[in-house]
Amino acid sequence: MKRFIIAITGASGVCYAKRLFDVLQPQAELHVIISERGGELLKLELDLASKYFAKENVTVYRNSKINASVASGSFPIDGMVVLPASMGTIGRIAAGTSESLIERAADVALKERNKLILVPRETPFSQIHLKNMLRLDQAGVLILPANPAFYQNPQSVDDLVDFVVARILDQLDVDHDLTEPYKP
Ligand SMILES: Cc1cc2nc3c(=O)[nH]c(=O)nc-3n(C[C@H](O)[C@H](O)[C@H](O)COP(=O)(O)O)c2cc1C
Repeated sequence: MKRFIIAITGASGVCYAKRLFDVLQPQAELHVIISERGGELLKLELDLASKYFAKENVTVYRNSKINASVASGSFPIDGMVVLPASMGTIGRIAAGTSESLIERAADVALKERNKLILVPRETPFSQIHLKNMLRLDQAGVLILPANPAFYQNPQSVDDLVDFVVARILDQLDVDHDLTEPYKP
């Protein structure tokens, strides 16, 4: 079973995180970390509490639990995804502050050369946002913005969400049927 960390932070678009979680949960070991603002966005946008994620093969952590196993380099993972990734969390990961569990787990993923995917949701970007993301890209992070495409004639918000989640699953090397291959 593959092992992934999913971190949910206080940016709009927590539906992406729920969908990724729902697709991965039956087939992977998941470690879910939710920032305080991420929890608020889950409530605001989906009326969801963190207990939703308490399912088989899943461990849910408070972001303050800095001594959790996922904060250690000796805890092997197949990848970590921060989604949605707030500009605040991105800035702190770029600075290497490691003060919360999300920041520390991302810092560990970087130092261990594990796959780290950040899914920012902000518009427009400031120069500071762009510089932070460039710095992270240069350190080996994959910046995968929550930018759904429209060429597959989406019929619903769920289709738009699936487009972004499909791109994340591709990067995690997880097979899926969320989107059809593009046929011109
Ligand atoms: C309703 C609401 C929506 C927000 N949406 C975004 C967003 O889309 N992108 C972003 O970078 N920050 C957004 N923020 C701001 C972050 O939540 C804020 O910077 C917070 O400190 C991030 O904390 P965290 O990264 O620890 O979750 C939003 C805040 C609120 C209250």
